[in-house]
Amino acid sequence: MNKTANLLAVLCALGCSAGQAGAAAPIPHLVQKDGRHALIVDGKPYTMLAVQAHNSSNYPAALPEVWAGVRDAQANTLEIPVAWEQVEPAEGKYDFSYVDTLVAQARQNKVRLVLLWFGTWKNTSPQYTPAWVKFNNARFPRMLDKEGKTIYCLSPHGEETLKADRRAFVAFMAHLKKIDEEQRTVIMVQVENEVGTYGTVRDFAPKAEAAFRQPVPAAVLARKKAPQPGKASGSWSDVYGPYADEYFHAYAIASYIEQIAKAGRAVYNLPMFVNNALRDPIEPMAPWKGNFASGGPTFDVIDIYKAAAPHIDIAAPDQYAPESNKVTATLALFQRPDNALFMPEMGNSANYARYVYQILGRGAIGVAPFGVDYADYSNYPLGSKLKDKSMAEPFGRIYAAFRPMAQLWAGWALEGRTAGIAESDARTPQTLAFGNWSITASFREWQFGERPEADKASGKDAPPGTESPTGGVAVAQLGENEFIVIGQNVRLRFGGAGANAGKPFMHDRVEEGQFDAQGKWIMTRNWNGDQADHGLNLTGKPVVLRITMGTY
Ligand code: DGJ
Repeated sequence: MNKTANLLAVLCALGCSAGQAGAAAPIPHLVQKDGRHALIVDGKPYTMLAVQAHNSSNYPAALPEVWAGVRDAQANTLEIPVAWEQVEPAEGKYDFSYVDTLVAQARQNKVRLVLLWFGTWKNTSPQYTPAWVKFNNARFPRMLDKEGKTIYCLSPHGEETLKADRRAFVAFMAHLKKIDEEQRTVIMVQVENEVGTYGTVRDFAPKAEAAFRQPVPAAVLARKKAPQPGKASGSWSDVYGPYADEYFHAYAIASYIEQIAKAGRAVYNLPMFVNNALRDPIEPMAPWKGNFASGGPTFDVIDIYKAAAPHIDIAAPDQYAPESNKVTATLALFQRPDNALFMPEMGNSANYARYVYQILGRGAIGVAPFGVDYADYSNYPLGSKLKDKSMAEPFGRIYAAFRPMAQLWAGWALEGRTAGIAESDARTPQTLAFGNWSITASFREWQFGERPEADKASGKDAPPGTESPTGGVAVAQLGENEFIVIGQNVRLRFGGAGANAGKPFMHDRVEEGQFDAQGKWIMTRNWNGDQADHGLNLTGKPVVLRITMGTY
């Protein structure tokens, strides 16, 4: 983006109004400010309070169960697949009737769409490609393993495969432009789904072998440092030693995706991203040993994706490890000045809901539990056993509280005013620093008085809903002494820091309320007396507080 466009985008991000009456809405895009990011929709910052549909809900007759889930989750955005096999069942004959129905119904439901292009790779497999691709190995080659055996995964070196996927994707983007450039119901597109390869580190077919012996491209050398000493340039093995196979495969897949994204954006320039089946974020770095999908946009190869695929805005993590230390590590690894934080999938069980506070507090552009539709399917143990309203509700309660300020929140996040935490598995207190104030969050507290630590450990007299970790809080600092807080199952205590350190202080106001459609704060009550004497104790019902502090 040039400087003027960047400036305009940032100004828009900070509050200019949407397009002129009657004109097409401005195209969704990402902006960056001091290493932070926002997604701009209708010319304004937008927080995706999203859900993702199940893998086979991409048919008109399946949609009623999807919209029911979206409503119960109070989501403003739906992520849902568009499968190559359904839009091009016979080569060159396109059928976008599902996309038409989907977009029309999304508008009726007042929900935005993130469309997931299930093409050459879905969880690394060609299962969503049309039959004329799936069963023609000669034209659409699969990878060979080290022993020369054909494996399940299509090769990223297949020129015909790339051509065919690209042509279908371009037709899809052209269709989207035709039906949606006035209203912009579709705000982002995911290219492929959880790419990479299981069981084999890379393609060993002759074409791949020849490419593997070529010098590492300069763009990769410039971005990706070797984890261990190697040559500054040369072949993949020269430069990256035992990591060469994985890095080469990541480069091959990213380059393939780049061709698709670039061609698609040339017809309709929506933001695009890839999602990732994670490698373990806390185990010591080591070369691939069959423990994740090699070649996918895992955290260790984000730089390779950035080098090879400049038309992909974001490498995004799919979170299915519920441990709080892993969530925290993943967020830190994927949130980078060159990579907006977006979690397009996480488990839909209730223990994941608290992470919404941490993720949006950190300034993510969006988050989505996976499988929030009533298709009578549960991906337990990855996600919830529940398949009805009770699965959607823990997210619904949080999204309902966030929604009225979702636009304001995205603007505050872009300005670096926000932070957030989720209760850790250790359930210990956590402190957030905001200039001359600190806020300490503790968990498993009563609303009145002090609960003995021994009772917290044993679970005796636990406040309802705190039997397992469910707490979380996100905070935006609007002024020196003014905060917006949203959270649940948490006790908050302010402390003086910096210039306020050691000074006596007290709450001025602790207003419970919400922002209206014009962004004006509407107070419902002021917490005082018992409601503020023992810290600010938020229950399982998420609330929004506007807090002002003072010293004396
Ligand atoms: C991650 C994939 O991206 C989803 O499409 C889905 O298969 C989940 N895993 C498992 O339910």
